Amino acid sequence: MSKKIFSGVQPSGNLHLGNYIGAIKNFVDLQNQKDNQCIYCVVDLHAITFKQDPKTLKDNIRETTAVFLASGIDPKKSIIFNQSLVPAHAEGSWILGCVARMGWLNRMTQFKEKAGKDKEKASVGLYIYPVLMTADILLYDATHVPVGEDQKQHLELSRDIAQKFNLDFNVPNFLKAPEPLIQKYFSRIMSLKDGTKKMSKSDPSDFSRINLNDTKDQIANKIKKAKTDSLPMPSYVEEFAKRSEAENLFGIYSSLNNQSLEKSIDEFNGKNFLDFKKKLADLVVEKISPISLEINKLQKDNNFIDSILKEGGEKANAYASKKVNEMKKIIGF
Ligand code: TYM
Repeated sequence: MSKKIFSGVQPSGNLHLGNYIGAIKNFVDLQNQKDNQCIYCVVDLHAITFKQDPKTLKDNIRETTAVFLASGIDPKKSIIFNQSLVPAHAEGSWILGCVARMGWLNRMTQFKEKAGKDKEKASVGLYIYPVLMTADILLYDATHVPVGEDQKQHLELSRDIAQKFNLDFNVPNFLKAPEPLIQKYFSRIMSLKDGTKKMSKSDPSDFSRINLNDTKDQIANKIKKAKTDSLPMPSYVEEFAKRSEAENLFGIYSSLNNQSLEKSIDEFNGKNFLDFKKKLADLVVEKISPISLEINKLQKDNNFIDSILKEGGEKANAYASKKVNEMKKIIGF
């Protein structure tokens, strides 16, 4: 069945292996499946929910676009654009914000995590961020949204908002409730230093993550220093329940090798973590270094990157402005 895919990545710098395995690698796989129509967005409106330096933001928008291209997203097959080029995102977000309920947003765990202890000082944008994300998806009638595990709650909210809009205005099926595409395994890559914490661009330790622009030596060194435990190599998947660091490293290995956790466990049966880490480092270097080199190459040509975004923005605008105009008509504007 053909799918209409939408997903987004924030241009906040330091894209890492978690973003790649949890999201971008799947963007490429979905793009390459017959008949899928894919739209991948650099969500710059989301990025400004935290204060950004304007020059750095511009660089990060281009860098995230370079990551998309270097990872294999092909502008001939997929639409690639940055969100602020398409005014319908902000407009649709306002309309849907009037449909969503405070109680729903109050339950969003990512807001609580990101706002931290001093909620009063968080931007209003950060609070209504999941509504903007809902507009992103619904404006394109996306049927499927590939994301990492941390976005699951936001997608459930987008389904609720779509259903409420349809009910409130008596327009059954006008907004399509999207299906999340979250991989059963590998949808939550953890910090290399602490298997209970998500790999994240905001972790102060650079050793907690593999950045997509790390050099071969940096990658090898980070994997060498990654935390493991002192138990023998795992024999069963069930053992991972209490061995989060080992699970994470085996998850990274399995995902990049496109094989099951069971197969990876068999492969290293009777070996030790030293052997495993060496193989893992080689694999990550093999998969990530070409991307990193390509990112560097693309970043030397801002005009090229900007032209891809502009062209994608025009295509995206054609869809999204039509949908938001229909929404406006429905609500009586
Ligand atoms: P963002 O920019 O934080 O992350 C981009 C994608 O990477 C995934 N991800 C991870 N997956 C596995 N392990 C990790 N450690 C890890 N860290 C990040 C995220 O789940 C995400 O899929 N709100 C979104 C962006 C967004 C969006 C959308 C996504 C805006 N509008 C519409 C889908 C549809 C975000 O901040 O992702």
